[in-house]
Amino acid sequence: MKSLRVLTGITTTGTPHLGNYVGAIRPAVTASLNAGTESFYFLADYHALIKCDEPARIQRSTLEIAASWLAAGLDPARVFFYRQSDIPEIPELTWLLACVTGKGLLNRAHAYKASVDKNTAAGNEPDADVTAGLFMYPVLMAADILMFKSHRIPVGRDQIQHIEMARDMAQSFNHLYGEHFVLPEAAIEASVATLPGLDGRKMSKSYDNAIPLFAPREQLRKLIAGIVTDSRAPGEPKDVEGSALFQIYQAFASTEETDALRQAYADGIGWGDAKKALFERIDHEIAPMRERYETLMADPAGMETILLAGAAKARELATPFMAELRAAVGLRGLGTQRASAGAGAVSATPSPAGMGALPTFKQYREKDDQFYFKLVDAKGQLLLQSTGFASPRDAGQAIARLQGEAAAALADLAGQVVPAPQVSPATIDDALKALQRAAAG
Ligand code: TRP
Repeated sequence: MKSLRVLTGITTTGTPHLGNYVGAIRPAVTASLNAGTESFYFLADYHALIKCDEPARIQRSTLEIAASWLAAGLDPARVFFYRQSDIPEIPELTWLLACVTGKGLLNRAHAYKASVDKNTAAGNEPDADVTAGLFMYPVLMAADILMFKSHRIPVGRDQIQHIEMARDMAQSFNHLYGEHFVLPEAAIEASVATLPGLDGRKMSKSYDNAIPLFAPREQLRKLIAGIVTDSRAPGEPKDVEGSALFQIYQAFASTEETDALRQAYADGIGWGDAKKALFERIDHEIAPMRERYETLMADPAGMETILLAGAAKARELATPFMAELRAAVGLRGLGTQRASAGAGAVSATPSPAGMGALPTFKQYREKDDQFYFKLVDAKGQLLLQSTGFASPRDAGQAIARLQGEAAAALADLAGQVVPAPQVSPATIDDALKALQRAAAG
């Protein structure tokens, strides 16, 4: 059974706050425990460069966000957890996608249009202060998503358009070069509340109303004491409606606890007592994580090791897939030229139904820590088996050669790939050529 792939990125420009925890981190950690789901969570530090030109802040934020997710219970052994900039295939794919993306599509991106509108309103050049990076933001994001054939992308509403653009790019590419990409869908968690901040507006770094997720205990107490309330005195009944304090409490408490606070509001609880209850409730949930967070923050080199291991794991998928994509668009070794399109017979476009009947390369890693692949036909019959490669990139390159050159590469790769018993080179050649045709669209 194929598992559902869920992927999301976190831009590394800030320090996680309670709103990020309730809205993104906590539901993601819970979802990552589902059987039948493969989760991909990554630190979108290339995206951070678009918004932030302070190197120290990007580095600091990368550490803080990574430590926050792990402290909140994400298990890097169970999920793919990596830093975007450790995956060179991402910018490489960004370029391939840029070449199938209409400039007009990007002109319509909300974030870009907002900048243009603002400039126009101010009487400036439409593109004043707009970088090419901002303009290309949706392409980089599509590369993040499409690289891992992700099905579901949990994001905030402001990101829906980006997912739709990623779909468009996947479709354009598939149309031109064959069915390589999975079409992703945005997943908007309706049940996850947006948390109000200290001033009652949505909690956000840009409003300066956020409570850092791992603020030390005493600072947490002080910040909570600063949440806006009305001026009703103890003993006067209070409204839960529109009370930021109540909403934050609700995001952390059980239904019974929430009902009890609602009753206390009606009974005229004093704001000081309500704030104390909120502080205790949050601190109860956060304290054990805060301890883990502080341990992780004190060991940046350890975090680096975790992230590099995560990148190696992600690249086991990205490297061979990128090799496939390069071959598909014609970035191929010159050892063997393919028959030109004019040669006739092989130019038929495979139907999507026909695609299902293709042979496939399967990559895996063995206990000896080497990287292997095999070629199996549509029925799962083994055709070709590799010996061990030192890195996924080496294995990916061998696959790319086989895909690009078919049987001609077999001789050169003798010693690295072995035909299965009873399988003739001609059968392998047919299988590789079928893949070539599919890749050529
Ligand atoms: N743009 C996203 C945000 O600002 C972050 C992000 C980058 C992302 N790449 C992604 C989210 C891929 C989902 C999938 O929130």
